[in-house]
Amino acid sequence: MITHDQLLQAIPHCLDKTNFPWLGERIEGKVRDIYRHDGQRVLITTDRISAFDRVLGLIPHKGQVLNQLSAWWFEQTADLARNHLIALPDPNVIIAHEAEPLPIEIVVRGYITGVTKTSLWYLYEQGERQPYGVPLPDGLQKNDPLPQPIITPTTKAEKGGHDRPVTPDEILRQGLVSVDLWEEIKETAVSLFQRGQEIASQSGLVLVDTKYEMGLVEGQLTLIDEIHTPDSSRYWLADSVRPGQEPENFDKEFLRKWYAAQGYRGDGPPPTMPDDFVAMVAARYISTYERLTGESFIPGEQPILERIEKNLTQRSKESKE
Ligand SMILES: Nc1ncnc2c1ncn2[C@@H]1O[C@H](COP(=O)(O)OP(=O)(O)OP(=O)(O)O)[C@@H](O)[C@H]1O
Ligand SMILES: [Mg+2]
Repeated sequence: MITHDQLLQAIPHCLDKTNFPWLGERIEGKVRDIYRHDGQRVLITTDRISAFDRVLGLIPHKGQVLNQLSAWWFEQTADLARNHLIALPDPNVIIAHEAEPLPIEIVVRGYITGVTKTSLWYLYEQGERQPYGVPLPDGLQKNDPLPQPIITPTTKAEKGGHDRPVTPDEILRQGLVSVDLWEEIKETAVSLFQRGQEIASQSGLVLVDTKYEMGLVEGQLTLIDEIHTPDSSRYWLADSVRPGQEPENFDKEFLRKWYAAQGYRGDGPPPTMPDDFVAMVAARYISTYERLTGESFIPGEQPILERIEKNLTQRSKESKE
């Protein structure tokens, strides 16, 4: 088990950014550095953490945890959906098929919760009984399970913008995807989510909701980006879910709550996280990984940047041979 002191010592060695022009065209996401070349996408997951649509700082081992957890989930769901994974040449790197991304993101929710204005609980509490066009019964309490998982798609925001909820009607009317593809997307998303919930519950966690990104690779629907990570999903500790109580979060909500307690809600310069808190956030990411996979987390060799460069150079040499 990694101790709090070891996490504190790892803070100065976080992976902040990469710059490998020889890998192809570089695109910087909030969390990942991406290189595109020849129908492939090299996704390097850094230790950057984002919330409120901005980067807030660095969390030791977060990049490796997210990258390995995502790869693990791709394997656990490979029988349900095609995914973009080609190879894992380094603990922080996935090589993926470049997809033609769909213009929508698929959010699937198993519980009625949340605090933001787009959250199901907020809308329901305001009296809305058909949030996102889905009819809901009266009498639901915050954090109750939904009768069945529901899909609440959003349009994909341009860089710097916000995602916007969109109804299935609008998706079809605007021709964002075809009717047949929309059916396939819904079925795929629900089956992935159900598998996610089953596996999470075997680990003492609840997969509350999640976001999928999908695209087309050679015309076939393919899962891209990341899957069931604490960045793209809400996880609760199963034991902590009791009526009238706030469950313990094993996702980014933990971070959002700390910022809210400092009076920060996403406007202006964010407060800096103290090292002790950073180490606690790291411990949660690692614990989620260990609970789900049942394996201990083993940090990759340091310095991370040099290791990645070595592993990717090695790979590109091999592929030329
Ligand atoms: N196989 C793929 N083909 C095409 N685009 C992809 C593929 N996999 C991921 N992407 C895109 O790569 C980007 C991943 O970057 P990242 O998640 O760091 O950025 P972000 O989405 O801006 O940040 P955040 O996740 O914090 O909101 C996303 O825009 C995602 O849609
Ligand atoms: Mg993303």
